[in-house]
Amino acid sequence: MASTSTTERGSWNSKLGFVLAAAGSAVGLGNIWAFPTKVATEGGAAYIIVYLICTFLIGFPVMVAELAIGRKSGKNPVGAFKALSSNKFFPLVGLWGIICGIMILSFYTVIAGWAFGYAFEEIFFFLNWETAANWLTDTEDGFRNAIIASVFMLGTIKIITAGISGGIEKATKFMMPLLIGIIVIMIAYVLTQPGASEGVREYLLPDFSRINAKLIFSAMGQAFFSLSLGMGALITYGSYLNKKENIPQAAAFVTLADVGIAILAGLLIIPSMYVAKEAGIDIFVGEELASSTNLVFQILPALFHSIGGATGLLLGVVFFLLLSIAALTSTISLLEVPVSFVIDEYKIQRKKAAWGVGLGVLVISIIVSFNTSLIGTFDSIFNNLGLPIGGLLTCVFVAFVWKTDSALTEMEFGFAGIRQTLFSKVWPIFIYVICPIAILYNIVSNFL
Ligand code: PHE
Repeated sequence: MASTSTTERGSWNSKLGFVLAAAGSAVGLGNIWAFPTKVATEGGAAYIIVYLICTFLIGFPVMVAELAIGRKSGKNPVGAFKALSSNKFFPLVGLWGIICGIMILSFYTVIAGWAFGYAFEEIFFFLNWETAANWLTDTEDGFRNAIIASVFMLGTIKIITAGISGGIEKATKFMMPLLIGIIVIMIAYVLTQPGASEGVREYLLPDFSRINAKLIFSAMGQAFFSLSLGMGALITYGSYLNKKENIPQAAAFVTLADVGIAILAGLLIIPSMYVAKEAGIDIFVGEELASSTNLVFQILPALFHSIGGATGLLLGVVFFLLLSIAALTSTISLLEVPVSFVIDEYKIQRKKAAWGVGLGVLVISIIVSFNTSLIGTFDSIFNNLGLPIGGLLTCVFVAFVWKTDSALTEMEFGFAGIRQTLFSKVWPIFIYVICPIAILYNIVSNFL
C-alpha cells in the first residue's frame, strides 16, 4: 500500500504505468530529432557505441540514484534533498534542476510546435493550400511559433491538471504504444525504398577515427538529455512510485526503452535521408550531412512531398504526429517537476499550480518563439552543461551525504535480495567514483 502522503500527492497505478510514463519522459525530441543526426554527422556507429557506454555506465546508475531519492523522500527535487539531509547546499541542486527543466521546457515547446505545425503543413500541401502550408513552414515567424507553442503548452497543462494516474499515466499509456507502432511501420516502409540500404550502411558502419573528447562530451550530454537525467524529473516520477516496485529493474526498463527507440529512430531517419537523396533531394549542407532542423524540417518534408499523393500525405502526417507525441510525453515530465515543487512546498492545489507554472513558462516560450537564436543558448547552458552538473551533484549527494547504503536500503523495498546481488556491490562504485569522475572530466575537457 502506498503511504497516505503518497496517495494525497498521487501515485502510479501500476508498474507498467510508471515505466511507460518514465519512458515517455525519456523518449522525445532527443531520440527522434537529435540522436539520429548526431549519429549521422559524428561518426556513425562509433557514436552509437560511445553513446551506449555513456547510457549504461553513467546514465543508468544516475537514474537509479534519482529514483531512489524520489521514492524515499516522496518529494519534488528541492523537498527531496531537504528531506534526506540537513545539508543546506543540496536543496539548491534541486532548485537548479527545476530551473534547467523550466528553461529546457521553454524552448522544447517551440521545437515541438514546429513538429506539430508540420503535421498540418503536410495536409495543406496535399490540398494545394499553398499559403497556409508555407506559413506553417516558416520557423522564423515568431507569431506562428508562439501560437503553436501555446497550443502545445496548453495540452501539456491540461494533462497535468488531471494528476498522476488519471492524467500523466493514462495519457502516456495510450501514447507510447502508438509511438512504437508508428516507428515500426514507418521503418518497414522506408527500408523497402530505393536508396535505403546506403543509409543503413552509413548508419551502422563505425568510423572509429572520429572518436575524440568532443564526441564523448556530445554523447554524454545526449545520454543525460535523452534519459531525462540531472534535473529531477526522475526524482519527481520516483516520488510517485510504490514501495513494491523494484527500482533497478524499473530503471533498466526505462533505459532500454529509451535506447531502443533512439536506435529505431536512427533506422528510420538516416535511411530516409538516403531515400531522399535517391529522389534527387540535396541532403548535404556543404560537406556535412544535414542535421537537426535542416534534416527534420526541410529534407524529410521534401521527401514526403516528392513521394506525393496519399502515401506522401500519410507518411508526412504520421511522422510529424509521431514527433509531436514523443515531445508531448516529455513536456509533461518537464512541467511536472516545477509543478510538484509548487504543490509540495507552497501547498498549492494541483490545478492552480499547473496553470500558474505552465502559463509562466509559456511567457518564456513566447520570448523564445520570437528569438529562436535563444534555443541554442538555452540548450548549451541548461541542457549540455546544466544536466551533467545536476547529475554530478546528485552522485555526490548519494555518495557522501545520504550514502549509497541508505539508497540500497530504500531499494530493498521491491527488491528484497538486493544486498546479495552483484548490483549492490558495483552500483556504489559507479556512484562514488566512475560517474562523478567521468562527468567531471567531460565538463572540464569541454571547457578547455
Ligand atoms: N528526454 C527528453 C528527450 O529525449 C527530454 C527531457 C529532458 C525530458 C529532461 C525531461 C527532462 O527529448
